[in-house]
Amino acid sequence: MRLAGKKIILGVCGSIAAYKSALIVRGLIKAGAEVRVLMTPSATDFISPLTLATLSKAEVVSSVHSGASWNNHVELGLWADAYLIAPVTATTLAKLAHGICDSALVAVYLSARCPVFFAPAMDVDMWQHPTTRENVARLQSFGNRLIDVGEGELASGLSGAGRLAEPEEILDTLADYFERRRDLTGRRILITAGPTLEDIDPVRYLGNRSTGRMGIALAEAAAERGAEVTLILGPTHLSTDAPDVTTVHVRSAEEMYQATVERWPATTDAILSAAVADYRPKTIAPEKIKKEEGSIHMELVRNPDIAAELGRTKTGGQYLIGFALETENGLENARGKLVRKNLDLIVLNSPRDAGAGFGHDTNQIQLVDRNKVTPFELKPKRAVADDILDRLVADKPTLCD
Ligand code: C5P
Repeated sequence: MRLAGKKIILGVCGSIAAYKSALIVRGLIKAGAEVRVLMTPSATDFISPLTLATLSKAEVVSSVHSGASWNNHVELGLWADAYLIAPVTATTLAKLAHGICDSALVAVYLSARCPVFFAPAMDVDMWQHPTTRENVARLQSFGNRLIDVGEGELASGLSGAGRLAEPEEILDTLADYFERRRDLTGRRILITAGPTLEDIDPVRYLGNRSTGRMGIALAEAAAERGAEVTLILGPTHLSTDAPDVTTVHVRSAEEMYQATVERWPATTDAILSAAVADYRPKTIAPEKIKKEEGSIHMELVRNPDIAAELGRTKTGGQYLIGFALETENGLENARGKLVRKNLDLIVLNSPRDAGAGFGHDTNQIQLVDRNKVTPFELKPKRAVADDILDRLVADKPTLCD
């Protein structure tokens, strides 16, 4: 039932496991989904397009030259609720990871706005090769979801990891996604992200290295899980066009403060991931400051603390999450902030951990509340976002009025 009415694209690549795609199509159709199948040319050596067309009750696109179908990659990418690529081979993994668009399957991947699931199948050594590991990690870092390989006997006669996940497991993963992932429906979530820039004169500013990547991942994940999201975003080259995310662009800490505080009363939860400047120049020079002999002094004044203000005015039903980026005494400082700013949870990360912090696609966090510390592994920021939202749902499962 969970897949009823869902529009699914199935991409099939040239692996012996391609025969299992027939069972996947059959399962999807039985569950009430609408299915369109794309095959790489080599997939057709393993299973006939006629088989998959008959089972899916729709034309199968197997060549970049399939007439009108080729032009439809954008349309198909927009049509789908999910794109499942199963099995995906080492070659196609590499092409997906690097945008090598020589098949309809990859073209649709690049055009798709829906979540993408990929289920690899290959020999054990190919699966363990650093090239494959890197391509898988790269695809995950873009938010694509891995349906992990199974272990056992492989077509080569070797034994180990590399088998395509069983069709039932693949169907369950998709069904879980559609069911579980609407658990934030009805919530209005405010998220701050990115740096703030504090102007010195018309051409100069004080800034920091935040890109907003973590906050954007949170906004996209929350929206996908059913929340109505307002993203208050400082100046960054990154953005999101996810539906159900309203982005409000701000520049300075004061602008971010105004935009956030005024929306707080109509909000159920806030996640403050922005790297807000603590200080700003006391005055902004109206003209570019000229250089002179000797040193120059600039007076800095404190910016308002958005987190502290939301904590101060928080009502019983509102849940408030802050971030702490600490280079030393992380836990102690995080706990101090939690109490001082009246937060419910702190996401602690350290820029010293490899792969964590500003500019990375991955992050390693600990969730800290008044009673406990929960550590997590290094993960793509999108998966980190889901861990944080899982905790939000666990701590505050029901909505306030
Ligand atoms: O005190 P510190 O800057 O380390 O606190 C970090 C947390 O407080 C983050 O959640 C950050 O977004 C938030 N913060 C804020 N306004 C400020 C400073 C920090 O909302 N002026």
